[in-house]
Amino acid sequence: MADPSSSDRFLVTAALPYANGPIHIGHLAGAYLPADLYVRYQRLTGRDVAFVCGSDEMGVAILMRALREDRTPEDIIDTYHPQIRDNFERFGMSFDHYGRTSSDTHTETTQDFFRVLDGKDAFELKTEEQLYDPEAEMFLADRFVTGTCPVCGYEEAYGDQCEQCGSTLSPTELEDPRSTLTDATPELRETTHWYLPLEEMQPPLEDWIDTHPEWKNNVLGQIQSWFNDGLKSRAITRDVPWGVPVPEEVAARHGLEAEGKVIYVWFDAPIGYISATKEWAAQQGTPNAWTDYWQDEDTTLVHFIGKDNIIFHCLMFPSMLMEHGDYVLPDNVPANEFLTLEGEKLSTSRGWAVWLHEYLDDFADERHTADLLRYALAATLPETADADFRWEEFQRRVNGELANVFGNFVHRTLTFAHRYFDGEVPPLQAPSAADRAMLDALQDAPAAVAAAYDDFRTRDAVSETMGLARRGNQYFNETEPWHTHDTDPQACANTIHISLQVCASLAVLLEPVVPSAAAALRTRLGLTDVRTSTPGPDPPSAAGWHDAGTPLLAAGASLPADPEADPLFQKIDDDTIEAQIEKLRDRAARHESSSPDTTDMPDDLDALSAPISFDDFMALDLRAGTITAAEPVPDADTLLCLQVDIGLEERQILAGVAEQMAPDDLVGLNIVVVANMEPKEMFGLESQGMVLMAEEPDGTFVPVTTDAENGSVVR
Ligand code: 2FM
Ligand code: ZN
Repeated sequence: MADPSSSDRFLVTAALPYANGPIHIGHLAGAYLPADLYVRYQRLTGRDVAFVCGSDEMGVAILMRALREDRTPEDIIDTYHPQIRDNFERFGMSFDHYGRTSSDTHTETTQDFFRVLDGKDAFELKTEEQLYDPEAEMFLADRFVTGTCPVCGYEEAYGDQCEQCGSTLSPTELEDPRSTLTDATPELRETTHWYLPLEEMQPPLEDWIDTHPEWKNNVLGQIQSWFNDGLKSRAITRDVPWGVPVPEEVAARHGLEAEGKVIYVWFDAPIGYISATKEWAAQQGTPNAWTDYWQDEDTTLVHFIGKDNIIFHCLMFPSMLMEHGDYVLPDNVPANEFLTLEGEKLSTSRGWAVWLHEYLDDFADERHTADLLRYALAATLPETADADFRWEEFQRRVNGELANVFGNFVHRTLTFAHRYFDGEVPPLQAPSAADRAMLDALQDAPAAVAAAYDDFRTRDAVSETMGLARRGNQYFNETEPWHTHDTDPQACANTIHISLQVCASLAVLLEPVVPSAAAALRTRLGLTDVRTSTPGPDPPSAAGWHDAGTPLLAAGASLPADPEADPLFQKIDDDTIEAQIEKLRDRAARHESSSPDTTDMPDDLDALSAPISFDDFMALDLRAGTITAAEPVPDADTLLCLQVDIGLEERQILAGVAEQMAPDDLVGLNIVVVANMEPKEMFGLESQGMVLMAEEPDGTFVPVTTDAENGSVVR
C-alpha cells in the first residue's frame, strides 16, 4: 500500500452529506474541515489531488423527510443540495467536484458495480420475513421502524442502528417495533433481498486491516470490536420507493422482478465518490482520467468521515471494492469523534447546533468570515476523543490568536516596512544570533507542519503553524526594531527583512486553514509565483510548501503600496458572542417547551413575539400589490430591486431574497406590501416599503400572496 509520502497522486473524499437538512459545525469538525485542510496542504506541496464530495440523495433518510413533510424526495434533494453546495463554497471547501447521487452517472456507476458483484456471485439472495406496515402498505426498512434495542434497552432505536449504544441492527431484531410512518405495529411478510456476506469477507478484511497499524486508534478500536463480534451478512437491497433501482437483468438472472426494489443507500453512497470522480474527469475533458485515481495502485485514497461512518468505509465499502477487483482500497480513513457544543451533545432535534448558513450570515460583516470558524474549529477538532466547541473559546481563538498573534505580527511588520523602508524588502546583512535563530525556526516549519498533516494530526498542524507566527512576534519584540531604527539601522533592516519572510511563509503555511486571509496577505506582500491550495494547475515555476522554509521575497522587492491597510482580522466583541450563546439557549428552550419531536428538523419555529395593541396593528398599512419587475442590485448579492404596483401608485422595493429567488420567480406574483414604511436608502437605491414573506424554519422565504385587487387594504 502506498504511504502518503511516497505517492504523488491523491484521491481524497469527504463523507457525502444527506441532502435532507443543512450542515452544522458537527459535520464540519467530523469530516469536511479536516479533509479540506489536508487537501489544501497536499496541493501546496505540488501533489496531484482530486478532492470529491457530493450530496447523498438516495435512501431512507431522504424518503422519510419527504413523507413527513408531504413532499416528494426530489423536492427535498432539490432544496438541500444547492444550499449545502453553496454553503460549503462560502465556507471555503475546495472540492474539485461536488456531485449528487441522483445523477445519471451515479445511477449507472452503482448499477454497474452491482451487476459486476452479482455476476461474480459475490452476493447471497435470501427470502425472509420482514416488517411490513399494513397501513402504509410498505416494508419498514431502516429508520421506518423504531423499537427497543436488544443490546442496551434504548426504546427509540432505529431499524438499522441504535444511536444510544452504536449497535448495528436489523429491523426484526427490535423489541416492540413500531412504524415511524403510522405508529402501527408491523406485521411480518416474506420478501427476497440481495445480501453482502460480510462474515465471509472477515478474514481478508482482517488481513488488510493488519497492514494498517498506522491508522488512528479510535478507528482501529472500532474495527476491532466489529471483528470481535463477528461480521454479519448485510442486506443491500430494500423494498422502498426511493433509491437506485436494482437492474432488471440482474433480478431476472435470479428469476425475480426488479420492480419496487432499490439498492441500499450504504451500497450506493460510497460509490458516489467514484461517480463524482468520473463527473470531474469528464468536466476536465479527460473522461478516462478517473481510472488513474481509482484503479492505479500508486494512488493514495483517503476517506474523511465522522465516527458513525467507520463500519461503512473501513469494512463494507472495502469489501465491495475487494470483491469487484478493479479498485484501490483506502490507504487511510481518518475518522473523527464527535463535537459537543457548550458542553452538550449536538442535537438537531433539540436545536442545539450551530448551522453553517447561520454562522456565515451572522458573521458576514467580519473580515474573512469563514476563516474565523475554520481556525477555531480546526484548533478544536475531535481527533482522538470528543471535543467541545464553546463560543467564548471561539472568541479567544479569533481575538487572542488570529488577531493578536498572526494579524498583529503581519500588521506591525508591514507598517514598519512601509514607514521606514519605502515599502521595499530591506536587505539582510550580517545577521545577528537572534536573526539566525529566527531563520532556523522558519526553515524547520514546513516539514514539522507537513509531518502533522501527513499523520492526520490536523490540530497539531494548525498549532504548529500558529507557533511560527508566535515565534515571529517574539522575534520582533526581542529585536526591538523601534529602537534599532535609530541606534542600528541595519539591525532594524534585518528584523524587517526576516519578519517579512516569516509573513510570506505564513501566507503559504496558514493557507489551508485561513485561505481568505492568506490570499489577502499574499496580495499585501506582492507574493506571486507561489502555488495556491485551490483546484487547478499552478505554473511549474511556482514556489510551494517546502520552499516556505526559505526566504520567498527578494531583497529590494516592492510591497504593494498600502501603508494604511486594515489589520487582517477584526476582534469579535463580547456582545456578539453573548448573542450567539443566547440564540442557542433560546432555541433549546423553545424546543423543550414544545412537544417532544424526535424528527431531524434543523430548526424550530421562532417564538411568538410580545403582544401588541390593536392600535399598534392598525398603524400598519398593508396593501395587496403585484410585482411588475425585478432585477439584481449591483454589488448587493442578497438584494433584488422590485417594482410593485400597489393600486394607488408604483413602488420600488428592495427585498433581501436574491440568494433564494431569481427575478423571474417574483415577477407577476400578487403579494402583500407594508406600504407605510419610511423610505430607506440601500446601495444608492431607495426602498419604499416591504414585501411580506414567510420564513420557514430552514430559512426558505415563501412570499405571502393574495388574490385581492391591487391596493386593497390587508388587515
Ligand atoms: O452519515 C451520513 O451523513 C452519510 N450520508 C454519509 C455517506 S458517506 C459516503 F459513503 F457517501
Ligand atoms: Zn442500543
